[in-house]
Amino acid sequence: MRKWNFCAGPAVISEEVISEVRAELLDYKNSGTSIMEMSHRSETYSNIAYEAKEDLIKLLHIPKNYDVLFLQGGATHQFSMIPMNFKNLTGTADYITTGAWTKKAFIEGSKIMDLKNIYSSEDNNFTSAPNIEDLKISENASYVHYCPNETIHGNAIHEIPNINKPLIADMSSSILSKPIDVKNFSLIYAGAQKNIGPAGLTLVIIDKDFMLTGNEALPNILKYSEHAKSDSMLNTPPTFPWYVAGKVFKWMQKMGGLDYFKKQNELKAYKLYEFIDNSHFYSNPVEINNRSIMNIPFILSDSKLESTFLSSSEENGLLNLKGHRSVGGMRASIYNAMPLEGVEELIKFMDYFEKKYG
Ligand SMILES: Cc1ncc(COP(=O)(O)O)c(C=O)c1O
Repeated sequence: MRKWNFCAGPAVISEEVISEVRAELLDYKNSGTSIMEMSHRSETYSNIAYEAKEDLIKLLHIPKNYDVLFLQGGATHQFSMIPMNFKNLTGTADYITTGAWTKKAFIEGSKIMDLKNIYSSEDNNFTSAPNIEDLKISENASYVHYCPNETIHGNAIHEIPNINKPLIADMSSSILSKPIDVKNFSLIYAGAQKNIGPAGLTLVIIDKDFMLTGNEALPNILKYSEHAKSDSMLNTPPTFPWYVAGKVFKWMQKMGGLDYFKKQNELKAYKLYEFIDNSHFYSNPVEINNRSIMNIPFILSDSKLESTFLSSSEENGLLNLKGHRSVGGMRASIYNAMPLEGVEELIKFMDYFEKKYG
């Protein structure tokens, strides 16, 4: 029996999508093989790959001057590959640090080029984030890197900044959660395992002109331009996650597209924050304007009750509520595929637990 899964990633995928995958698993549309055993160069697979890309372009309204890449390596690979590609522009870039992932991106990127950390909320445990347009951006920055949704700290920058430098965003835990204006970004990257599908796939959406400023001296596998030239098939792509991602995109379109998910996600988050804020037992430390709608960390007034909370929530069919090991407490990740009903069940359980132990 499937339970409510609040994992931060790999995360819940719609049951409808998984059922379709199951139906096609052994023999994909009378091809005689499963998707996992099929050449990525075959006509059948090429059609799957092409359709997934086209569906994503439609969902996000990606303009024609952008390339969309389906790569391996995760977001971690991306925040290393980005400075390698764009190091030659001015030799420096600005980073905004609002949580564990942007901190890591800065540390890794600094091994490759001279980066400037123009904002950090580490002093307050990443419970706040800036309005990027108010920051002083270095004149010689090749690009500005930030993360609109810090998965571990539940710290978000909701407004898309409008700046006159190439803007790069790690959207691993927020992509497809609401409509965005892609043209504000030079590069967007996102690991698939939260709002897109199974782990192993990473999406990159990149402005073609920006891409062409990339370092030509790199090995091909590290060059965005080479991945784009070969339609993300420079080497064997993550065929199965790409196929599942295609199904997720179709499911999202059927549900009502990004406008629908924005409304649903805001409603789910509103209900959970409202419950937490009205309780004396639970609290969320993030500044109200920066609260994530995807990952909601919360602590109990008595931390000794944490393990009881976790075992009891599991017994009640609510999985993976433990906060990240670096911050402790609890965290509910409520991505697109988590229905409102799952959040209501969580709130019901939290209320019961508070009444029993609070
Ligand atoms: C915002 C963000 N960036 C980067 C990563 C690292 O992703 P990966 O494990 O795909 O390298 C994660 C993973 O959870 C994430 O949430």
